[in-house]
Amino acid sequence: MKKLEELLETLKPSIQKFTTISGTPTALYEPISYILGLGGKRIRPAMVLASYKLYKDQISEEAIELAEVVEMFHNFTLMHDDILDGADLRRGQQTVHKKWDEPTAILSGDLLQILVYQKLSKIGNIAILDLFSSMAVELCEGQMDDMQFETMDNVKNEAYIEMIRQKTAVLLGFSLKAGAMLAGASTNESDDLYDLGIAIGLSFQLMDDYLDSFGEKAKVGKRIGGDILEKKKTYLWNEMWSSLNPTEQQQINEAYKLSEEETIQFVKSKMKETKASNATLELAQYYTNTSLNLLADLEFPNDKSYLEEIVQILSGRES
Ligand code: IPE
Ligand code: IPE
Ligand code: MG
Ligand code: MG
Ligand code: MG
Repeated sequence: MKKLEELLETLKPSIQKFTTISGTPTALYEPISYILGLGGKRIRPAMVLASYKLYKDQISEEAIELAEVVEMFHNFTLMHDDILDGADLRRGQQTVHKKWDEPTAILSGDLLQILVYQKLSKIGNIAILDLFSSMAVELCEGQMDDMQFETMDNVKNEAYIEMIRQKTAVLLGFSLKAGAMLAGASTNESDDLYDLGIAIGLSFQLMDDYLDSFGEKAKVGKRIGGDILEKKKTYLWNEMWSSLNPTEQQQINEAYKLSEEETIQFVKSKMKETKASNATLELAQYYTNTSLNLLADLEFPNDKSYLEEIVQILSGRES
């Protein structure tokens, strides 16, 4: 587990800098330093650095800036995602729109995204800038599908996988690909790393969905059962739903008239009974294995164990 720690150590000054972002009106800037200071796993910037290190021995100032770009953008998406999902808790603390209000979270999120573009233009790599914009477009598309699925009953697994590829995996793909591009990798090499990032991302979101219902609140830092209350069409839900008969499906619908905690408990019990919870862990493991196999087949000038370790850590994560 030492390699990830080493990468996170390299990121410490950036994280320190995040927490000092300030300006006027303070109500616009404070939510940015707040959310960036709440912590989190910092997995995306670590992926940028791990990818860069496949080609370069020394981490450059630009590589650090690119790592900052992905973490800042990730936090922007979370600020808005918590509005979309009506979430009150993030990393064990109040979400921005709860601590302040929705208009503030929208505008501070907008500003954070603009700060990201300022940093990207400072890095000055047009190919990376283009890749970033395409990634961000897909992420928005995925987020819209995620919301629209809430009111749909039979979401196919292929549609779910495509939705999580867009809302989550593309940013992990970008992190690996852009890190390699900055380090001078060839198009083929950086494309392979993108595919690896997508596989890691699919496993990552499946675990995120599992933990949202079956994780521990103290570790996850979000409301357990939040996805169930929002009727998110996760693999967990879809696998459960498709194995229930119409009467049992009706029982699920009825359960939404109970108190929130009772609803969550009832739906979770059905997810267990139908083995949808196990199926989710198995599919996450499948994409982890895909990631490890892809990685095993790739050759790089430098050590790939940084990436291997990241894949392993993410697969066993509880937060
Ligand atoms: C949460 O991401 C949002 C998803 C795409 C699932 P993380 O689980 O990486 O959140 P932090 O940054 O560690 O809090
Ligand atoms: C997050 O998906 C995807 C993005 C933020 C783009 P979730 O809605 O599952 O993330 P959490 O669970 O709130 O962190
Ligand atoms: Mg959410
Ligand atoms: Mg969401
Ligand atoms: Mg989630």
